[in-house]
Amino acid sequence: MRWRMQWSCAGLPGSSVSPESPELALSPADAPSLRVLGIETSCDETGVAVYDSRLGLLGQALHSQIALHQAYGGVVPELASRDHIARVLPLVDSTLQQAGSALSDIDVVAYTRGPGLAGALLVGAGVAAALAMAADKPLLGVHHLEGHLLSPLLSEPTLDFPFIALLVSGGHTMLLQAQALGDYRLLGETVDDAAGEAFDKSAKLLGLGYPGGPELARLAERGDPGAFDLPRPKLRSDDLDFSFAGLKTAVLTRVRAIGEGMDEQQRADLAAATQQAITEVLAAKAVAALRRSGLRTLVVAGGVGANLSLRARLDAACAELGARVHYPALAWCTDNGPMIAYAACRRLLAGLERPRREYAFDIRPRWDLSELADDMLCRRNS
Ligand code: KG4
Ligand code: ZN
Repeated sequence: MRWRMQWSCAGLPGSSVSPESPELALSPADAPSLRVLGIETSCDETGVAVYDSRLGLLGQALHSQIALHQAYGGVVPELASRDHIARVLPLVDSTLQQAGSALSDIDVVAYTRGPGLAGALLVGAGVAAALAMAADKPLLGVHHLEGHLLSPLLSEPTLDFPFIALLVSGGHTMLLQAQALGDYRLLGETVDDAAGEAFDKSAKLLGLGYPGGPELARLAERGDPGAFDLPRPKLRSDDLDFSFAGLKTAVLTRVRAIGEGMDEQQRADLAAATQQAITEVLAAKAVAALRRSGLRTLVVAGGVGANLSLRARLDAACAELGARVHYPALAWCTDNGPMIAYAACRRLLAGLERPRREYAFDIRPRWDLSELADDMLCRRNS
C-alpha cells in the first residue's frame, strides 16, 4: 500500500515555500515561520500544545482522565466527552500563556480528526473550529496515528525518512515503511486485538486497574516470565502481521486453572510472562521488517512504546542488527497535544495540506491511515 500527496502551500502564513518545494528541513535559520495550536481529544486525554516551526514546542498542557474512568475499568465514552468539554478551554488558555502567545499569534488551529471516540473527537473539532473562526485562522484536521508516527521526531528533529515504524497503541498495531512525510506503506498489522488491548485485557484478567498496560508492566517487574509458558502468536509466520487475541485467551485459561488461590507471586509471574510474549513478538516482527526492507532505522510510537521491557528488547535486537531505534519521549508515547500540533506543522510546511478558512469541520472516528491520501485528494478537488 502506498500513498503520497503534495500540493502548493502558497498562502501559508509567513511561508515562502514554493509549490515545487519538497519537504522542508526544519531549521531555525531557514524554516518558514509557522505557529500551530494543536488540540487532541480522541480518547481519554485532553492535550493542547503550541508548536512553532522555528522555535519548537512553546507550550503544552495535558489532562488525563484515568481517575475518571478507573472505577469502570475502561473508558466510558460519554464521560470522556463531557470531561473534554470541561477541560479543553482552560488548557488552551494555559498553553497559550505558557507559549507567551495570544490566539491572534497562532497561524493555524489543528485538531485530531480521527480515529477515536466520536463524541470525544467532536469536542476537540468543535472547539478548534470555533477558535479558528473567531480568530480568522485556518483550521486543519490531523490523523491521530500520523501524530503518533511523527512524535519521535519532536525530540529528534534530525531523525529523517525513510524508516520502519512500529505503531503500537491501544487500538492499533502496525508496521509501516515511512518513505517520506505522507508516504506510509503498510507492511503488517494486527488481525485481531492491538498490542495495547492485549496488555489491557490481560491486566483486567489479573485484577489490575485501568489503564492496564502500565499496571501490568509494574507488576511484571516482580515476576518470573519463565514461570508460565504462553503462546507467541504469529511469531514464525511469514508475514509481518500480528495476532494477540489467542494470547488473551491463554492468560484467561491460566487464571481459571489457578482459580481463587492465585497468590501475589503467581500474578506477578503471569504478568511477566504476558509482557514477555507480547514484546517478543513485537520486537521479532519489527526486526523482520528492518531486514526485509533493508532499512536500518526503526521508530517506535504509541502508548505501548512506553513499555520499558519492549524498549530493552528492541534496543538489543537493533544493536545486533546494526540498526538505530528511536522512541518518543515517554510523555509523548501516549496521547498528547504536541504530536498533533507538530504533525499539522510538518504537513503544512511540506505542502501536503492547504490552509483553509473553512469551518464546517468533520470527524472520522474510523479512519485508516491508508485513506489519508485519498481524503486529501477529495479535498483538493472539491
Ligand atoms: O497511544 P495511546 O495513548 O492511545 C491510543 O491511541 O490507543 O495508547 C494507549 C495504550 C493502552 O492500551 C495502554 O495500556 C498502553 O498504551 N500503554 C502501555 C504502557 N503505557 C501505556 N502498555 C504497556 N506498557 C506501558 N508502559
Ligand atoms: Zn493514541
